[in-house]
Amino acid sequence: MKAEGEKIAMLTAYDFTLAGLVDQAGIDVILVGDSASNVIAGHETTLPITLDQMIYHASAVIRGVKRALVVVDLPFGTYQADSKEALRSAIKIMKESGAHAVKLEGGFQERSSIERILQAGIPVMGHLGLTPQSIYKFGTYTVRAKEEAEAQQLIKDAKMLEEIGCFGLVLEKVPAHLAEKVASLVSIPVIGIGAGNGVDGQVLVLHDMLGMSKEFSPRFLRRYLDLHTEIIGAIQQYTKDVKKQDFPNESEQY
Ligand code: KIV
Repeated sequence: MKAEGEKIAMLTAYDFTLAGLVDQAGIDVILVGDSASNVIAGHETTLPITLDQMIYHASAVIRGVKRALVVVDLPFGTYQADSKEALRSAIKIMKESGAHAVKLEGGFQERSSIERILQAGIPVMGHLGLTPQSIYKFGTYTVRAKEEAEAQQLIKDAKMLEEIGCFGLVLEKVPAHLAEKVASLVSIPVIGIGAGNGVDGQVLVLHDMLGMSKEFSPRFLRRYLDLHTEIIGAIQQYTKDVKKQDFPNESEQY
């Protein structure tokens, strides 16, 4: 798709029902992101979600998907210690969920882990720029690689990920001109989130783009629906109907 200039559309999903809808709508790639830690479990960061919880989400997604590529995040603490542990974690995801590929955060520090996973025949997607699993190192979720030194390191990391065999990479919250440069320097697809329009595809968190919450409003987020208002309205109407005994009516009972 990159070679042919066709942009790649990617969204997250964490459960059977929504993954089925995302798949039916024609998305190219579904990411079972560790953002499930925030969106589904209500944690402040992505750090608490476990490998077994990711596998639970991923296997539900896989059961709902007939055609899209499904990529699953390796959660925090399951690949950083050493490459053997990284491989064990990736194998567990592939075996127990039926997913097609894994994604992990980081550049040169994770090289040996990525290489080992790739050697086992598991496709790996990289993730550079803002890497939320390192939030306590960064201290904030602001734009990364604005300084030249960090931008140069990011370019080196992207080239390294391509060279060792990653099939693509996510670039999160970096300046658009840098993201475009990275996409032009590597042949693998670069999927952006908050990385401008010069990359090879885009990814958003499904719950954010459907407008399920009003609280999270970064500049890069486009809301395609206002499900927050729709869902609250529907539930308020149901509650009223129950209380005034309008529901169920004659045709809604046996
Ligand atoms: O976990 C996630 O949803 C992600 C995307 C933001 C790329 O990694």
